[in-house]
Amino acid sequence: MKVIMGPASKELATKIADLTDYEKIDVISKKFPDGEVYVRLENNVKDENIAIVQTTSPPQNDNLLQLAFIASAAKLAGAKKIIAITPYLAYARQDKIFLQGENRSIETIGNILKSSGIDEIITVNIHQEEVLKRFFTIPAKTLSAIPLIANYFKKRGYKEAFSLAPDKGARYIAEQAKKVLGGEVGHLEKHRDRYTGKISVSKKSFNVKGKTAIIFDDIISTGGTIVKAAKILLDLGAARVFAACVHPLLIGDAEDRILNAGVEEVIGTDSVPSRFSKVSLSPLISQEIKAQESG
Ligand code: R5P
Repeated sequence: MKVIMGPASKELATKIADLTDYEKIDVISKKFPDGEVYVRLENNVKDENIAIVQTTSPPQNDNLLQLAFIASAAKLAGAKKIIAITPYLAYARQDKIFLQGENRSIETIGNILKSSGIDEIITVNIHQEEVLKRFFTIPAKTLSAIPLIANYFKKRGYKEAFSLAPDKGARYIAEQAKKVLGGEVGHLEKHRDRYTGKISVSKKSFNVKGKTAIIFDDIISTGGTIVKAAKILLDLGAARVFAACVHPLLIGDAEDRILNAGVEEVIGTDSVPSRFSKVSLSPLISQEIKAQESG
């Protein structure tokens, strides 16, 4: 197995290659003056199993296209099996036709990746796991980074913290965190207006008075969900509130909005490389590809 260091995940790919002891392959990338992307593999991949590490966080369209071009370059160069490791898989939230006339974006993305030569996809905490089974025609798997994130909090002394999921879909995330942290768990009910994108979160009663609470979600994008959830926790008397996610997109002024709402700190992973990437996915991904290679 060789690890191709996608330009969007170079640091993570380096860590994975170091942990697995697999050879690293660099990618030369550039953008033409008109905005088109270009990639070239630096080393030989003939007859090799390949893991391309390339997240598809913003700029997602460029990153997706780079991934497809890298896979296609590897295929043309004679690679054997091509695994795409895309910790953040873009467009996964458009997994249904919510309004008449829409596209099921994630299905189209799966088809594009398959046609570029990718044989298998490994992602992390995809928004809805079942889309991989329903819409992908190549093997696709999602790993969970929640135990790693919860362990980060545990090491910092937040054992027994209250784990909150901001909606029902993220309940499994809070449950996984509770397994590591102990403490109690709960979830809120969230509704998103499909036309305006505005969300409303209904209040529930939790036993958080005087406690540390951690809001766990798969993605933090505009921060709207976290702001609403934090307000509920603080109104209920939580002493400290943290926000944790796998994919810290934090678009625009999201961090300011979250901190102004009383959240102490935002913690994410290197799925989306940023200053919120305090937990690395490298052990999780390394373990998975090592197991696949030996099994
Ligand atoms: C959607 O249900 C996801 O799980 C996240 O809750 C959502 O993407 C967060 O978005 P935002 O930060 O914009 O509220």
